[in-house]
Amino acid sequence: MYTQLQLRDSARPPVTVASLGRMKEQGEKISCITCYDASYAALVDAADLDVVLVGDSLGMVIQGYDTTVPVTLNDVIYHCRAVAKGLVRPFLMADMPFMTYTSKDEALKNAVRLMQEGGAKMVKLEGGAGQAEIVEFLASHDIAVCAHLGLRPQSVHKTGGFRVQGREEAAAEQMRRDAKLLQDSGADVVLLECIPSHLGKEITAELHVPVIGIGAGPDTDGQILVLYDVLDITPGRKPRFVQNFQQGRDSPLAAIRAYGEAVKSRAYPAPEHCF
Ligand code: KIV
Repeated sequence: MYTQLQLRDSARPPVTVASLGRMKEQGEKISCITCYDASYAALVDAADLDVVLVGDSLGMVIQGYDTTVPVTLNDVIYHCRAVAKGLVRPFLMADMPFMTYTSKDEALKNAVRLMQEGGAKMVKLEGGAGQAEIVEFLASHDIAVCAHLGLRPQSVHKTGGFRVQGREEAAAEQMRRDAKLLQDSGADVVLLECIPSHLGKEITAELHVPVIGIGAGPDTDGQILVLYDVLDITPGRKPRFVQNFQQGRDSPLAAIRAYGEAVKSRAYPAPEHCF
C-alpha cells in the first residue's frame, strides 16, 4: 500500500514522467528495454533499467508471428499484468495494439484497460500527424502517452516492410513536423525507430520531451532494445541496431545490466548499429 509514496524517498525512487524529463535536461541517457513476464521483469528491475515496455513485439518473440499485427489488447494486458508484478523502480509502458486506437473513444477505453488491468503507467501508439487528435484526447484525460514514429511495425503491410524510414529529405521533414505536433498535442515521450542518426539527433534537439531511439543513432535521449535481442535468444538475422549483450556473460542478469550500463555510458549504440 502507498508503495509509490513510500519509495519516493528511498535510494531507488520509482521512475516517473518527471524524472524522465529531468534525465533529458541533465543529459543522462535513459535505459529502456522490452519485457513480457514477471521473471524477466524482476531481472530488469535488479539491473536498474529506467523504462520497461510491454511491446506488441510480443507477437513476434513470444507468439511466433511474422509481424505485430495479430496482437490483441488482451494479449498486451496479460503480459503487462505479469511484468508489473516484477517491477519496483522502472517506469512501465505498454503498447496499444493494431487498430485499438482508431477513434478517440476506443483509444481512451483501451488505454484505461491497459492501465487498470495491466498496470501500465504510459501507453504507446504508432503514427504521425494522423494520431495527434487521439494523443491530445488521451492527454486531456491525464493519460501519459508515448508517440512512436519512424518505422511503425503495425503498418508494414502498407509501408512495404521493415525498412529504414526518413532517408529522403521530404520524409525527414515530415517526421520532424510530426514529432513536434505530437509533442505539442500532449505526448510525454517520443520513440523513433529505424531512422538515420542525423534525423534522430535533430528531432531530439528540437523536442523538450524525452526521445527514445531504437536504430535512431547515439544522440536520442535514451535507447530501447527488445529483451530477447539483448539476450541473443531471437534466432536468425538481426536488425543492424541489435547487440548481443549475452556474449561473454554468464547470466541474463549480467547481460541486461551490461546493456543498461552501455546505454548510460554511451558505449551503445556504436557506429556499426546506426543508419
Ligand atoms: O513492440 C516493441 O517492442 C516496440 C519496440 C521495438 C520499441 O515497439
